[in-house]
Amino acid sequence: MTDPVQDQYEAYPYPGRNPAEEATRLVTGSPSRVLEIDHYLFGGRRDWSQPFRVLVAGGGTGDATVMLAQQLHDKGMKAEITYLDLSTASRRIAEQRIKIRGLTNVTFLSGSLLALAEMGLGGFDYIDCCGVLHHLPDPDAGLASLAGALAPGGGIGIMVYGEYGRAGLYPLQAALQQLAGDLPLKEQVALAKKLLPALPVTNGFRNNRFLGDHRRGDAELVDLLLHRQDRAYTVPQLAELVAGAGLQIASFIEPLRYDPSLYLTDPVLAKRAASLPAPDQAALAERLAGNMKLHIAYLSRESGTVAQPAPEAIPLFIEWEAETVAKAVQQQGGIKGAFDGLPVTLPLPRQAPAILRLIDGTRRMDAIRQETGFTDWENFMAVFRPVWRALNGINRLALRH
Ligand SMILES: C[S@@+](CC[C@H](N)C(=O)[O-])C[C@H]1O[C@@H](n2cnc3c(N)ncnc32)[C@H](O)[C@@H]1O
Repeated sequence: MTDPVQDQYEAYPYPGRNPAEEATRLVTGSPSRVLEIDHYLFGGRRDWSQPFRVLVAGGGTGDATVMLAQQLHDKGMKAEITYLDLSTASRRIAEQRIKIRGLTNVTFLSGSLLALAEMGLGGFDYIDCCGVLHHLPDPDAGLASLAGALAPGGGIGIMVYGEYGRAGLYPLQAALQQLAGDLPLKEQVALAKKLLPALPVTNGFRNNRFLGDHRRGDAELVDLLLHRQDRAYTVPQLAELVAGAGLQIASFIEPLRYDPSLYLTDPVLAKRAASLPAPDQAALAERLAGNMKLHIAYLSRESGTVAQPAPEAIPLFIEWEAETVAKAVQQQGGIKGAFDGLPVTLPLPRQAPAILRLIDGTRRMDAIRQETGFTDWENFMAVFRPVWRALNGINRLALRH
């Protein structure tokens, strides 16, 4: 093998995973939770009695494959998941994880996502491609290949690195190349570990406290600091990549991070920001925040794939529980949290906890309106809108019909 990227993932399958841990926990995250796929790409209206064909392109050690396979199995959905990766070492770990779980809905393939057109796999309803495109020599060709493998009405969930949040990293990668790039990867790891604690106090990487992956293990250190093929995207660059493949950005995750009003307290500035077209607003938000180290986005061919609040829509929490959220909102007067070091406080109306308590994944919005005593839809929406902005904004609330 001569491709340094392929060699890297054979020697250091990413992320480092021990299959035995499948017995105790399921790793979940964005993109690709089933609830998110339905909400952001199918308007919350996918008919799950119909077969669902999924491709995990560059599946690594299997996080998305395992999550999708388990969630689709648990929901009793007729799903067929295809895992594809260049690295056979990564594939072996992913295969073991699926086997330990007793899941039978995954087919494993070794190969390049660039060769999809020749593989004759048919069209996919959903493609996960997380942390892969930015490692290709030609990411445009990569996304075009994925777009070509979509079934009509299908969509893609991607993650690519964000430029501003990776501040300080690329000079360090270049420095490590100079110091150790000619050595075997294992020795590069050892030298990187010597260098890190000794970096000057002025070093940009040392001062970026949100880049901490390298502390999780050697595979993570190699992926962050010693990668031979690695680029990052700003929002406009990502928009160009997506448009080049004939796709559009249905939503970023978390949506609120891409809303400039989160960062602007002055009403004049907030109004000027709100007057910008949606893609420019997202670009502005990224520039103001400065801390986005990656971009997660759902991509579709058509517009209007994201579910919207409506009387017949059913709200569902994403991995949160109604009573706990309602209690926290009652105590704090809203939602409090942080986006990579940015403290976020989202005040909510006093009627919000009563609404949140009724979100059980079966009640429709109109039923919640009635049970909370709102006679009028608009009055209800005056309370629900900020709830939605906050909780969908942090990707904890979705809709289905
Ligand atoms: C950073 S890892 C991400 C793994 C996984 N998607 C995740 O998020 O945990 C990148 C993966 O992409 C794979 N990869 C790189 N180029 C590829 C290609 N052209 N076709 C298929 N897989 C590729 C690598 O082997 C590696 O397993």
